Amino acid sequence: MVYEKLKKCYEAVEKKVTFKPSLALILGSGLGDFCDTMEVKETLPYSEIPGFPTSTVAGHKGQFVFGYSNGVPIVAMQGRVHYYEGYPVQDVVLPTRLMHMMGAKTLFLTNAAGGINPSFHAGDFMLISDHISLSVPSPLIGANIDELGTRFPDMSEVYSRRLRTIIENAAAAEGVPLKSGVYLQTTGPNYETPAEIRAYGRLGADAVGMSTAIEAMAARHCGMEVCGISCISNLAAGISSNPLSHKEVQETADRVAPLFRRLVARSISEIAKG
Ligand code: HPA
Repeated sequence: MVYEKLKKCYEAVEKKVTFKPSLALILGSGLGDFCDTMEVKETLPYSEIPGFPTSTVAGHKGQFVFGYSNGVPIVAMQGRVHYYEGYPVQDVVLPTRLMHMMGAKTLFLTNAAGGINPSFHAGDFMLISDHISLSVPSPLIGANIDELGTRFPDMSEVYSRRLRTIIENAAAAEGVPLKSGVYLQTTGPNYETPAEIRAYGRLGADAVGMSTAIEAMAARHCGMEVCGISCISNLAAGISSNPLSHKEVQETADRVAPLFRRLVARSISEIAKG
């Protein structure tokens, strides 16, 4: 059922798009303008793919953008699908699997996240070293899709050590400060309570957000090499004394967007060099 839907989506994409990406990029809240730096060849609105879950969040556009970033053929998701929108978790990872079927071998995840680590500041970038997925069901629940991967996939290195080293070197070369840490995914859409943030910090989380871990799991299941960067858009609840708002998240993401674009573009070109 899940695989049938995925194949139908892929057939629709194949009819409309000829571009062959080698890397897939998922753009988080406020980070969608990365596509302005691309040499865009084709775009495909999600609404033109029958059965595709379409995003409802303000600031999320909802289309695949195909083109070159520093000469590297990529597909970027301008707007992702979130679990809190009410889609089953298997639908939330459908776009990731679809980009795998389009030919992308690497998945580059980005998101806006709340900083839990006390050394983090709003506007920092965090290379994701690992994740904790507590409240969101595994996207691999249900009959295994043998065509994609194995029933019990290993998750001991979700975020490739090889890619992390490349990104750390790219950040240094661009002069962009880069922290590193563990990302924890919640369901959202509400932000956390201060007690939850204290608990997550004790569990080992450095940042918290409402996406990414399930997409990373689905990508590992089908054999993609995965990396991710969080934009720390705010300090998590209780760490900052301010109430949290989507507006603050977007404002910080907008402020650091030029730096973020440089970091991601340089990382992608270094990843392509291998
Ligand atoms: N919590 C959860 N998700 C988020 C946050 C946060 O503080 N900031 C951006 N996305």
